Amino acid sequence: MNLLIISGSPFPGSSTAFLAEEIKAQIEQPENHVEIIDLCQWDIPLLGHPETEDLEKLKHIAGEADGIIIGTPNFHTSFSGILKNALDHLSFDQFEEKPVALYCTSGGMRNTDPLAQLRIVMRGLHALAIPTQLCASSSDYKKDASGKYGELSIEMKQRIGKMLDSLISIAGMAESKHQI
Ligand SMILES: Cc1cc2nc3c(=O)[nH]c(=O)nc-3n(C[C@H](O)[C@H](O)[C@H](O)COP(=O)(O)O)c2cc1C
Repeated sequence: MNLLIISGSPFPGSSTAFLAEEIKAQIEQPENHVEIIDLCQWDIPLLGHPETEDLEKLKHIAGEADGIIIGTPNFHTSFSGILKNALDHLSFDQFEEKPVALYCTSGGMRNTDPLAQLRIVMRGLHALAIPTQLCASSSDYKKDASGKYGELSIEMKQRIGKMLDSLISIAGMAESKHQI
C-alpha cells in the first residue's frame, strides 16, 4: 500500500514533522511504502504563482497514494496557511474517495478545532476523512537539549496505532473496490 504523510508546519524540525516520523515508524511494513512530505522543505508556490517541480511531484505522489495522513500545527485554533495553500493546489484528482487521517499539534491544550475545520476542506475535496484522529499537545512529547523532539507519550503512540488501523482497513476496502 502506498501511503503519504503531509506535514503542514512552516517550521523546520517541527513537532508536526516529529509526529509524521512516529506515524511512519508505526506503518513501515514490507507491504507498505510510506513517504513524508514536510511542506516547509518543499517549494510549493503560493496559489496563482508559477508552478514548480516540487508542486508537480506533490500532485503525483498524492495522486498515487492509497491513503493520506495530514498533520497540522494549531495556529489560532485552525490549521496552517502553508497546508491550506498546498491543498488549494490539489483537487478531486488526488482526493476523490481517498481515505485520509488527520492529526494536529497544539502549544497549549490538545484541541480538535483545527481538525474540525480541516474535515470541511476534506469534504470539499471528496476525500474520506476517517473519524479517528490524533490531537497532541506539547505535553505529549519532550525536546532534548539540542531542540529535537522525542519521547512521545505511550497514550499518543497507542492513538497513532488506532488511527492507522482504521486508515489501512478503509484504504484496503477502497483498493479492493477499485480492483472489481
Ligand atoms: C501563529 C501561531 C498561532 C498559534 N496559535 C495557537 C493556538 O491557538 N492554540 C495553541 O494551543 N497553540 C497555538 N500555537 C502554538 C502551536 O500550535 C504549537 O507550538 C505547535 O506545537 C507548533 O507546531 P509545529 O512545531 O509543528 O510548528 C500557535 C503558534 C503560532 C506560530
